[in-house]
Amino acid sequence: MSVTNFPGGSSSASTGIPITKVTVPALAEMKRQGKPISALTAYDYSSSRLADEAGIDLLLVGDSLAMVVLGHENTMAVTVDEMLHHTRAVRRAVRRALVVADMPFGSYHGTVADGLANAVRFIKEAGAEAVKIEGPRVELVRALTDAEIPVVGHLGLTPQSLHRMGGYRVQARTADTALRLKDDALALADAGAGAVVLEGVPREVAAEITAELPVPTIGIGAGPECDGQILVFHDLLNLTFAPAAKFVRRYADAGALIRSAIEHYRQDVEHRAFPSDEESYHLPEAARKSMAAAHKAGILRKA
Ligand code: KIV
Repeated sequence: MSVTNFPGGSSSASTGIPITKVTVPALAEMKRQGKPISALTAYDYSSSRLADEAGIDLLLVGDSLAMVVLGHENTMAVTVDEMLHHTRAVRRAVRRALVVADMPFGSYHGTVADGLANAVRFIKEAGAEAVKIEGPRVELVRALTDAEIPVVGHLGLTPQSLHRMGGYRVQARTADTALRLKDDALALADAGAGAVVLEGVPREVAAEITAELPVPTIGIGAGPECDGQILVFHDLLNLTFAPAAKFVRRYADAGALIRSAIEHYRQDVEHRAFPSDEESYHLPEAARKSMAAAHKAGILRKA
């Protein structure tokens, strides 16, 4: 596995074991060794830090942040500046995982030169270690690779193509479209993509592409044969306000946990049960005595 340790020998707080940074070549090595790649979306410091410490290999600052963090209806509205802002927060939290920034809608849909200039911002201004782009944009992937910017491709159900697709629909459901998808994946890999996300495609199609692609596939709604799996952080923890898609597994109900904790806090405030005396600061003994003396002498008025 290709490894880079943090300068100064970064180590895990809990085990003291040196941290081995995940890189794009390391993902390829994981595929070669048949080691599944765990990936998750990330948008802020605290949750990214938890995900990194939990050992997730790849953290994607997904443009899904438009929906799950910013409350937009789809991913289209999020801007390059907003994505940069969140990528910086994630970067500050992460020691081990590969940090990939999603390029938002419109930031690479014009000329290759514009796409390249925007991708450079993610590396230079936010510390991303790779960028992800949707669709079979082979020329752009080649240009980014030539510019030393690792690229993760994204094929199948590409949410930025929502209006063209006419909804979030499973893709590549016919032999023709499945073969086209495989050709696109191979072309992306050939152009230099370090991994390819396969979203919303039949398991059989993803399995065949995974078997033929020289670089890892990361699946979301694409079955278990992909080299890795990715989920949206808020889906995994039930922090969304909509029914889960078929491919989502909820590993915890953080929504219920957070709601109940906040309700409990509100009730405690309303009943003056928070804060307690132990949760309050106190005057030192000497100051308390001089205040009492001052009150006695009539210098201070009692509240
Ligand atoms: O933005 C996103 O969350 C994605 C996925 C692959 C999960 O692109």
